[in-house]
Amino acid sequence: MNIHTLDKYAKSLIKEAANNIKSSFSSTLIIESKSEANDLVTNIDKETEQYFINHIKRDLPDHRIFGEEGFGDEIHDLNGYVWMLDPIDGTMNFIHQKKNFAISLGIYKDGVGILGYIYNVMEDDLLSATLGEGAFSNDIRIPTVKNASVEQSIVGVNASWVIPNRHIQHEGMVKLLQTVRGSRSYGSAAIEISYVVTGRLDAYMSMRLSPWDIAGGMVIAKEVGAVVTTLTNEPINLLQQNTFIISKPGLHEQLLSNYIQLK
Ligand code: IPD
Ligand code: CA
Ligand code: CA
Repeated sequence: MNIHTLDKYAKSLIKEAANNIKSSFSSTLIIESKSEANDLVTNIDKETEQYFINHIKRDLPDHRIFGEEGFGDEIHDLNGYVWMLDPIDGTMNFIHQKKNFAISLGIYKDGVGILGYIYNVMEDDLLSATLGEGAFSNDIRIPTVKNASVEQSIVGVNASWVIPNRHIQHEGMVKLLQTVRGSRSYGSAAIEISYVVTGRLDAYMSMRLSPWDIAGGMVIAKEVGAVVTTLTNEPINLLQQNTFIISKPGLHEQLLSNYIQLK
């Protein structure tokens, strides 16, 4: 399958999976906790991941799948084709709000992101990118991101970092929030990444994200010139969890040099 056929195929799976998610609103959700009480998963997260895996295994048997809910493959390297899938990013929003959740998917070939998708299901906004061919919001090309000063930025952060915590020096975060124009927290890493690449946010950061949260967004980010690194300015390793920042280029340097200090 060439890259354009693969792109069409991935988009058809995403749209069909999203229709299944919306159809589920009329039935009762089964909600469980995973690593801790507020780390939630539903039967729909699991069924959506299984929907992708059943189709991919049937149609592309040599492709591997790294999915959050664990129905895919055990991935210890990025050789060949690897699909990195979060069937529902923002599960807490999905349960409580029935909006502000996304399907997040990146397709990597030998470790290089070739296709990326973030589908905001309830907004019917599909961000997509093909390596070297630009990024789109539905059929509209997304322009390259422009730089912004710290003072004119809206940043996506978690409110708990401005009080003493074990991850980050909170004084720097207080200074940041006193300086920026505004801060936001949407509860879905994929949606927050989608807002940076489309210019609705200027930066977004997180203390711990998994490969499936960010793999699709990283392909899109590259196409629009947004910078993605860990919070210690290192490249992201897609075989493990990472700290994470996506930002407009000059702003990225300002944030890491002047405001963000990990403990
Ligand atoms: C979570 C969301 C959330 C982020 C968490 C993720 P999930 O994903 O993206 O915004 O802060 O780190 O785990 O569990 O809803 O797929
Ligand atoms: Ca997620
Ligand atoms: Ca998820």
